[in-house]
Amino acid sequence: MMIGASISRWTMTYFAAALAWLFVALALMIAGVGYPAADIASADTLVLVHAVCIGWLSLAMCGALFQFVPVLVAKPLFSEKSALPALILLVVGLCALIAGFLSLGGRLPPALWLLPLGAVLLVAGFGLVVVDLGLTAWLRPTGPARFVLAGLASLVATAVFGSVFAFALGGWAGSFGDAVLASGVPLHAIAGLGGWLTLTAMGVSYRLLSMFMLAPDPDDRRTKVTLIAGALAVAVTVIGGALAIDLASGLNVVLSAAAVLGLLCAALYGRDVAAIFRTRKRRQLELNMRMATLSFASLGATAFLGVALVAAGAFSTHLGAFAFLAIFGWLSGLVLAKLYKIVAFLTWLETYGPVMGRAPTPRVQDLVAEGRATKWFAIYYLSVWAGALSLLAAEPFAFQITASAMTVGAVGVVSEIVRIRRLTDVESGLRLPAGAVAPCLLFARN
Ligand code: HEM
Repeated sequence: MMIGASISRWTMTYFAAALAWLFVALALMIAGVGYPAADIASADTLVLVHAVCIGWLSLAMCGALFQFVPVLVAKPLFSEKSALPALILLVVGLCALIAGFLSLGGRLPPALWLLPLGAVLLVAGFGLVVVDLGLTAWLRPTGPARFVLAGLASLVATAVFGSVFAFALGGWAGSFGDAVLASGVPLHAIAGLGGWLTLTAMGVSYRLLSMFMLAPDPDDRRTKVTLIAGALAVAVTVIGGALAIDLASGLNVVLSAAAVLGLLCAALYGRDVAAIFRTRKRRQLELNMRMATLSFASLGATAFLGVALVAAGAFSTHLGAFAFLAIFGWLSGLVLAKLYKIVAFLTWLETYGPVMGRAPTPRVQDLVAEGRATKWFAIYYLSVWAGALSLLAAEPFAFQITASAMTVGAVGVVSEIVRIRRLTDVESGLRLPAGAVAPCLLFARN
């Protein structure tokens, strides 16, 4: 189904940039910059949050979408030309935004205009992504592509809120901007993490799971209900929340309604994923699938933790632990596990696709060394869970140690991914049959 589909030239570049930002974020956590060493709303925490949310997760997601949205809708990308300019705008914009946060926190000389500048560049970069992918998915909005459209709409909402904040912090948004800044931060965070990243990850995962496990596509009517619950959760948050800003009350009611819908969406997603696992033809689970299940478990644990904290009246005290588990257990874990497979798959397609049938070629699984990679993933997940526990226990030093262990796991996974891209683990006799060309590390040669 992917054979013959074109390979997105800049997807590897997005992945490489995303991984570089992951290491920036891990270095900040090890050094004790931002939450939990600093307040959750401090400027240092904003640096950390956006290095993770935009640099790592959003760039990885955009790279994956440029490759997989055309597969989801079986149509070529609307335009091949916007991926690279979008990447440059996003990286430069993120650097400006982060420099603005550093200036806000007094770590750089005062230059708050950097915040609106960063916002404008980020809006331009995300704008190119949304238009290109949105127009591609719009042509055939079925199944998983609908999740991507809902995710892109949430990205627009996230960017609009973020830009109003940035202009308000720069002193350029008047009293309206100040009012949005005062109560809109949860709306921005939920639209970004719950809408953009989670809904999109759900949609893409349906396709990847069924493709890599040889399962039939999930039932369209069922996934539609999952999507409606999730999209309503985001819509209630954004629209209800925006109205509540105006009325200066009622935000808690809106957020509670959204939380119930969000829980329903997560439960329905669990049901859909279980159905894909049950109907798969490939009985033996590959490493990326086994690791993805740890990410699903983390999503379940995040939902459980959220409910337990609300019941104990301690949600706002432990918001950081909740967000950490969602970001590093569910989203980052899933992205790392899927990158491992996607890079193998795309590298195989790029290198051996052109000579298939004309020379003996290795299988995709010959590019990976799962036995060696397993321990790095295990270290990563165990340290994420330990990190969440140390946040719950309010032990910042223990958290720094777990962040170091996460880094060991992530470095290990990335070194495996680089070996895959370099075909290091392919038997030398099969590595480069006549006519095959070794892939470049950072982009696809097409
Ligand atoms: C156009 C892009 C973006 C801009 C300009 C932007 C800007 C901002 C600003 C200025 C704040 C601070 C508000 C305050 O002072 O309290 C903020 C908070 C936050 N943003 Fe963004 N943002 C952007 C994209 C994103 C994305 C894509 C995500 C997640 C996927 C995200 C997640 C968050 C979170 C979780 C917070 C709250 C952090 C905390 O209070 O510690 N942002 N954003």
